Amino acid sequence: MSRAPFDVAVIGAGAAGMMTAAVAAQRGLRVVLIDHAERLAEKIRISGGGRCNFTNLGASPAQFLSRNPDFCRSALRAYGPGDFLDLLRAHGVSWHEKHRGQLFCDDSSESIIQVLRRECDAGGVQWRMPCTVQAVARETDGFRLDTDAGPIRAARLVLATGGLAIPQLGATDFSLRIARQFGLRIIEPRPALVPLMFDADQWRPYAALAGVSLEVRLSHEDAAPQGSTPGAGSAASSGRAKRSRRPPRAEFLEDLLFTHRGLSGPGILQISSHWRPGDPIRIDLSPGLDMGDALVAAKSGGRQTVAAALAQSWPRRLAETWLEAAGHPTDGGAGDAALAPMDAQDLSGLAGLRLADAPDRRLRALAERIHGWTLWPTGTAGYKKAEVMSGGVDTDELDQRSLESRRCPGLHVVGEAVDVTGWLGGYNFQWAWASGAACGRAL
Ligand code: FDA
Repeated sequence: MSRAPFDVAVIGAGAAGMMTAAVAAQRGLRVVLIDHAERLAEKIRISGGGRCNFTNLGASPAQFLSRNPDFCRSALRAYGPGDFLDLLRAHGVSWHEKHRGQLFCDDSSESIIQVLRRECDAGGVQWRMPCTVQAVARETDGFRLDTDAGPIRAARLVLATGGLAIPQLGATDFSLRIARQFGLRIIEPRPALVPLMFDADQWRPYAALAGVSLEVRLSHEDAAPQGSTPGAGSAASSGRAKRSRRPPRAEFLEDLLFTHRGLSGPGILQISSHWRPGDPIRIDLSPGLDMGDALVAAKSGGRQTVAAALAQSWPRRLAETWLEAAGHPTDGGAGDAALAPMDAQDLSGLAGLRLADAPDRRLRALAERIHGWTLWPTGTAGYKKAEVMSGGVDTDELDQRSLESRRCPGLHVVGEAVDVTGWLGGYNFQWAWASGAACGRAL
């Protein structure tokens, strides 16, 4: 037994930190839980539109990105969605499934915070909040934390301060800094589950679509070989890039939302976690319907225009504006290089053309573009708009059962600070619960 007053100090009283503290304290360990925030667990509070999408029934390692995709396996197996549901049942919290296994609170996310707080209190966790940790030092029998509430000594230290997303809520790089201080490698952090942005000039024709949403199939590819891409920043489609296409690295059937400066919505957030600067994304704007066959078949149906025909399966604003924009690439920008001349010619002036007067060849070219709209984002909307940070403490540095550093025994890292990033849909909280429970059991 350590001579330090605490067996465990957990820094960060968010999802993973509270779970770690509660599990460890209920095993009889003396636990202190430290957080610099005035209000407890703000990210849980605002999550899921205030109802917290706290897990996903289908959670498995397949929905997590990491340099080592197997790392999360053992924690998820040891503490799955069913375990968290048992906890909620024990506290009388009810929930509902919204979409594809995503579970939300019936009332508010506050009930999740209260469950975790009560679990901490049941184990006698000592709270230091708000409390700022100025420095962390290694001592012979543990760690010394210099805080604005005086020094705190503990035999073991758990870093649970989450990621960099939403700095306006107090997100910091604390865990990454302390991990670096003890020699742990960091996988470069990036905003993830975040809207994608485009060059303002390139995007102008599509900006009028802000607010339009539809279900699409999105895929992400590695940047195409040299000579076949127009470079970052294009909002135009490329026939050439399509021919050099390799199998998609990731694919999602989800809603897309047009914004004034780019694209958002669940599908884009999902694909953003896979996207790297310079990579194209590919959007099928009409999944499940062969638009070429549909347009050609509709030719016999009377006097409607091409735009009106598209509006039968799309929002009318999208049909008119997208068709217009796709047929008139902006001058001089990187996007022009992406358009094979035939493509541009084939799409211009189509919007107002009567379907019956449009040659099949042009309708099929349009359909090809609709099913394979290829875009080169210039960047993301950044941490201010991101739901999570991807990257973090390299999983090679940690034991997957205890989340303990191999290099610095006694130091553990849990939650979003670890290089394990879930898809949209409750997976990130599931990782917070699972990594926290694994660590709490192993301390
Ligand atoms: P978390 O961020 O929960 O907690 C970190 C704690 O550390 C905070 O309490 C913070 O105050 C504290 N801290 C930070 N720096 C510190 C320092 N220097 N000193 C002391 N304390 C410090 N996921 C999901 O699965 N379903 C969902 O519905 C959503 N929705 C969602 C909406 C929005 C807007 C965001 C931004 C994020 C989500 N997420 C989500 C992601 C989810 O919130 C996130 O992955 C988890 O909260 C991560 O849990 P952690 O415990 O690792 O960090």
